[in-house]
Formats: sequence, structure tokens, C-alpha cells
Amino acid sequence: MSSDTNKLLKQLDKKELYEIAKLKRINIPKDWSKTLIVELLGLNVSKKDIQTIVTKPSLMRASTKTRDGSAIIIKDLVKQFEDVTAVDGLNLEINEGELFGLLGPNGAGKTTTINILTGTSKPTKGTAIVRGYDVTKNLKEIKTLIGVCPQEAAVFKFLNARENIELFGSLHSMPKKELEERTDTLLELLDLAKVSKRKAKGYSGGMLRKLNLITALISDPEIAFLDEPTVGMDPRARRATWKFIESLKNQNKTIILTTHYIEEAEALSDRVGIIDYGRLIDLGPPQELMEKHGTKNLEEVFLKITGRRILEGI
Ligand SMILES: Nc1ncnc2c1ncn2[C@@H]1O[C@H](COP(=O)(O)OP(=O)(O)O)[C@@H](O)[C@H]1O
Ligand SMILES: [Mg+2]
Repeated sequence: MSSDTNKLLKQLDKKELYEIAKLKRINIPKDWSKTLIVELLGLNVSKKDIQTIVTKPSLMRASTKTRDGSAIIIKDLVKQFEDVTAVDGLNLEINEGELFGLLGPNGAGKTTTINILTGTSKPTKGTAIVRGYDVTKNLKEIKTLIGVCPQEAAVFKFLNARENIELFGSLHSMPKKELEERTDTLLELLDLAKVSKRKAKGYSGGMLRKLNLITALISDPEIAFLDEPTVGMDPRARRATWKFIESLKNQNKTIILTTHYIEEAEALSDRVGIIDYGRLIDLGPPQELMEKHGTKNLEEVFLKITGRRILEGI
């Protein structure tokens, strides 16, 4: 068995794995876990087999994913704040077009990681490469590719929603017409159109988060960093925001979402990285992690690994 073959197989989803099994005339029971299927196929198919098979149109999505490679590569990243090691030797690759959930309790190092990837904080050691650019050397190039919705709302309270959005859009030198049209669409999608003429000063926490999400995405960035985008939202607003984030995923954007809402990470992410004390403690598609640990949800996965609850620290 070659581990390369298994690596390739792991990138496919269950439906795709069953297609490969069918083509190779291997019978796999309906209720097998992905891990088991990968193990079995790994013994029976070669790398070449997979490459031939994934060029079938129904499997093109997977082959594109493989060809496109990594959007972000985090290498031995360390961030030290006096006596606190906020990020402690993090290694992680995030694929192009992936919705990656960074999940962990308060103080795990999620925001610090995002801050380093987006250039508002410098690594103590190690580095990260965003689309081939190094955060310690080529921040200017990185900034043109990314949109950031920081944990602390970054909007001007004395401007209304539309003015805020148009201000951020003009910072990206967006053509006026495109900016206006996109502003209208995003205000409508996030249900802020009706209040868009009111100054942000009077907005609720949830409304500010939505506005912040729009300003982060106004330039239609290839890579979006969303740090706790739904904090302070009521359930209805949260659902609307999830739907919106899902629509970004369908546009093949790369999205890095940090959250301590387990349900959110579970529902949206292609893969999650669970972090604790600045270290990656597990990584994979939510379903696969739950199968591997024999749990019903990601909270239990965290509990099994650490003996603590994610929400305990909140
Ligand atoms: N500017 C700072 N100065 C000192 N300590 C910090 C600073 N920023 C974050 N920390 C500490 O680093 C750790 C990770 O914080 P953070 O990245 O904000 O976690 P998360 O976003 O996962 O809640 C925490 O212990 C926090 O107190
Ligand atoms: Mg945070």
C-alpha cells in the first residue's frame, strides 16, 4: 500500500470513492466509514488508476482540487507574547477553494493565527505562505488577494452601512458602478438593505458583524478570513450568514473561518483544524473526525482528545 495513494483517496468524498470502487469492481457495503473505504481502496488501486478515474467528468471537482494545490501553507509557526505561547509550532495546509474551519476554545490561538496570515501580527518563528507569497516578506501582494473580517468589528460608527462599504470598496480601487451594484447585492443578501441609511452607531452587535462581513468581502477577494463572523447574532441572522458563507464556497473561494460554535464548523467546513493551546490537535473533514473518534459531533471529538469542552472556556 502506498501512502501517496491513500493521500489521494482521502481528498475524494465518499460518493467519489464509491464510484472508484464500482469502476474497479470492488464491492463496498453501503454503511462503511470513509476511513475504512480509503484503507480498502488503498490496497486495491494504484495512483495511476485514481488519476485515470478522476478525469471522468463526474469527478472533475476532485481533480481540480488536486491540481490547484494549496492556498495557504503554515510552516512551524510560533507566536510568543511575553509568557504566553499563543501559537506553538503550527503546521497546516489549506487547499484552494476549501472552506476551512479553525475550531478551538477561547484563547486557543485562532485570532493570533489569522492576524499573522493577514499581516496584522508578525510571527516569532516560522512563517506562512499565502498563494506563494511569504507573510514575512510579501505582505503587500497578499493584501490584494485577501478579505478580512476581524474578530473586533472594524467599521466607522459615524458612517451608515452603505458609506462604510463604499469606503472599503474605494480602498480597493473598485470601479464605482461595480461597487454600487455589489453593495446593493450584499446588503440585500445579509438583510441590511432596510437599515443601510442608518449610522452604524445605532447597530446591534449582530448587525455590526454583518456589516463587517460585507466590508471584508466587497472587493470579491479570492481568499477570505472570517474571524468569529457570527458572534452576537441571533439565530435567524446566524442562519442567514451561514447561507451566505455557503454561497461563497460555491463560488470556489478559499475561506478560513474561525469559530467556537461547533455546529457552525460542522455544518460549513470541508475540513476543520481543531486547535488547543496554539497546537493542532486534529485535522480532517468533520464527518471523518467524528467517525475516527466514534462521536456524534465535533464537541465530543474535542472532549475525547483533551478531556475538556470547547465551550467551557467561553
Ligand atoms: N496582544 C497580545 N498580548 C498578549 N497576549 C495575547 C495577545 N493576543 C493574544 N494573546 C494571548 O494569546 C492566546 C491566544 O489568543 P487568541 O489568538 O486571541 O485566541 P482565540 O482567538 O483562539 O480565542 C491567549 O492566551 C491570549 O490571551
Ligand atoms: Mg479569537
